[in-house]
Amino acid sequence: MALFDKHKKLEKNASLLLVGSLLAVLVGGIVEIVPLFYVKNTIEKVEGMRPYTPLELVGRNIYVREGCYLCHSQMIRPFRDEVERYGHYSLAAESMYDHPFQWGSKRTGPDLARVGGRYSDEWHVQHLVNPQSVVPESIMPSYSFLADAELNADDIAGHLEANATVGVPYTDGQIENAQADFLAQADPEADTSGIEERYAKISIRDFDGDPARLTEMDALVSYLQMLGTLVDLEAYRQNEDLR
Ligand code: HEC
Repeated sequence: MALFDKHKKLEKNASLLLVGSLLAVLVGGIVEIVPLFYVKNTIEKVEGMRPYTPLELVGRNIYVREGCYLCHSQMIRPFRDEVERYGHYSLAAESMYDHPFQWGSKRTGPDLARVGGRYSDEWHVQHLVNPQSVVPESIMPSYSFLADAELNADDIAGHLEANATVGVPYTDGQIENAQADFLAQADPEADTSGIEERYAKISIRDFDGDPARLTEMDALVSYLQMLGTLVDLEAYRQNEDLR
C-alpha cells in the first residue's frame, strides 16, 4: 500500500527518521510546556505556611541526617484510603520551603506529613528512644542517642541564610534573631513575645522532658510536632468548594 511504502522510506533512512522523531517530540513538548507559561503559579495559595523556626529547621536537618525519609514519606496522596488514614492530602504549598523535599518513596513506616499533634511529646521521646516500648511489633531502630546530644546554636543563622539563598522568605529579623529564637523555643522561661511575632503557630515548650538541656531530641520532636499543622485546611476546603 502507498502509505506503508512512504513509511518504509522513513524507516530506511536514519537521518529522515531522526528529523521525524525530533519533530514529533518537539510538538509533544510544546503542547505540554507552553500552557505552563500562562499559569502564574503552579503552587496553590494557602493560608498559614511559614518558614521553619530555627529549632524546627535543626530538627529537620537531623531527620535528613538520620535518613528517616528512607522509611517514612511526607506526602499524602489524594486517594481515599490515604486520606482516611493520614488526613487531608498534601498540598504543594506544604513542602514549598523544603530544601531538599522529604516526600520520600518508601513507606516502611507510616506517612508523617500530618503527624504533628497526633501524639504527645512524651510519646515521641519514648518512641524514639525505644520504639518497641510503645509499639511492640515495631521494626523502627532506636534513636536514644539524640537525647544525649546537646545542641549549640553557633551556626544556626547560617542555616537560615542558606535557605534564604534558595528562596525561603526568611526576613532580616528572623536571621538576626536566629540564635536567640533557637534557644527560646525550647525554654518555657524565655521571653517569647518576639519569636511569636516572627513565627505564627509556633509551639514553645520543653520538648524532650529535660528542661535543663537543649538536645537533638528537642529539635527533632519540635519538627515532628509541627508537621502538617501550619496550613489552615478548613479555609482551603472552603475555597475548594467554590472552585
Ligand atoms: C527501618 C525503618 C525506619 C526508620 C529508619 C525510621 N522509622 Fe519511624 N517508623 C517505622 C515503622 C515500621 C513505624 C511503625 C511502628 C511504630 O510506630 O514504631 C514507624 C513509626 C514512626 C512514627 C509514628 C507514626 C505514626 O503515625 O504512628 C514516627 C513519628 C516515626 N516513626 C518517626 C521516625 C523518625 C523521626 C525517624 C528518624 C529519626 C524514623 N522514624 C526512622 C520505621 C522506621
